[in-house]
Amino acid sequence: MRVVSTQGWIVPRFVLGLDIGTLAVLSSRTPRSAMQSHFFNQHVELDPFLEEEQAHALVQLCEDFGSYGMYSEEGLNDGIGEGLPQRFDAAFNFLRTGGRLGRRDSDLGTLVARTNYFRETYAYADEVFAPGIEAFVRNERLIEAAKRIFDCSIVEPAIVYANILLPGQELAVHTDVPEFRGLNRKLHPEWLIVVAHHSGLFDRYRLPIATSVSWYQDTKGGAFAFYPEGADRPPRAYDVHFNSALVMDTDSVFHGVDRMEEIDRPMPIFLPRMRLHPEGNGEWTVRDSDEIVGRYRWDHMRFSISWKAYCFRDEAERESWKSGSDDLQIETVLDTLCADLRDKGRLGDDRPPNRELAELLVDAYVRFPPPE
Ligand SMILES: [Fe+2]
Repeated sequence: MRVVSTQGWIVPRFVLGLDIGTLAVLSSRTPRSAMQSHFFNQHVELDPFLEEEQAHALVQLCEDFGSYGMYSEEGLNDGIGEGLPQRFDAAFNFLRTGGRLGRRDSDLGTLVARTNYFRETYAYADEVFAPGIEAFVRNERLIEAAKRIFDCSIVEPAIVYANILLPGQELAVHTDVPEFRGLNRKLHPEWLIVVAHHSGLFDRYRLPIATSVSWYQDTKGGAFAFYPEGADRPPRAYDVHFNSALVMDTDSVFHGVDRMEEIDRPMPIFLPRMRLHPEGNGEWTVRDSDEIVGRYRWDHMRFSISWKAYCFRDEAERESWKSGSDDLQIETVLDTLCADLRDKGRLGDDRPPNRELAELLVDAYVRFPPPE
């Protein structure tokens, strides 16, 4: 295990439902970046990660699982941020900058296809959807890494899921949606929970989540780019290869996936109803019902397994989470953020309309790394 200390953190769904008028306004802004003192500042690299036969078994599990659906837009916000995609923070930054390497597409269809990747859940809490994943859920090396990064004694694995990217696909730079006692991504806007974390104003309520991403192919392109020293320092582009893993605070460390090497030009337009099917012998197809939209070989794909675990310092903290005895209220979050914006001279006495306030909050608190 290699522990790295630093100073310090899908866009498939982001781009759907975009409003180009808003985009034009945002594109005139200058991206900024800054360190966040409340972010956890270590990551752990595991290379090799598993016994070789265990890693090969996960490749087989991926194929045996069946078909994979697309991870797509969860709908637009209501109320505050109304009309904006859930993660408009990352989506707009991606569209404005062309991603980490500043590669813009001229048409929205290609852009959507690049970021519409495939995802399925293997395990969620005690439920297992991919038989054979149980040992991975409780992997001791991941749990040990989480304890070290978050300086906690209790690590409770929460979810394991698979992501598959195809040639030409990429994932915009973002931080994941964190968790706070009382805030829930099913009830409250994802971007607002992200803003709450980046603001650093609600840290007492935050539940740290350790995330591991592990890989099972030597991938052409598709580096995992992350900013271990903060958004204003250079990123590290981790060369994705068989049986390797990283563990970090992805709610705080900006990260994304560089574009996969492209084999079809133009790449097929993937739509949310399509699925990726294993055909045996390392062959896969993307299908729109019965129609085959694209054919792929395993060695052109990028398969990763994400593992997320709650990290508690002690039993009292876990109990407080479960009982809901010390929860944050969403109105408190908004009032506190608005008061802070007023202190900073960015807001007058009245709150602006919902959408305008949402854009102001993201602009004020989420400081993306600039493109290279
Ligand atoms: Fe992420």
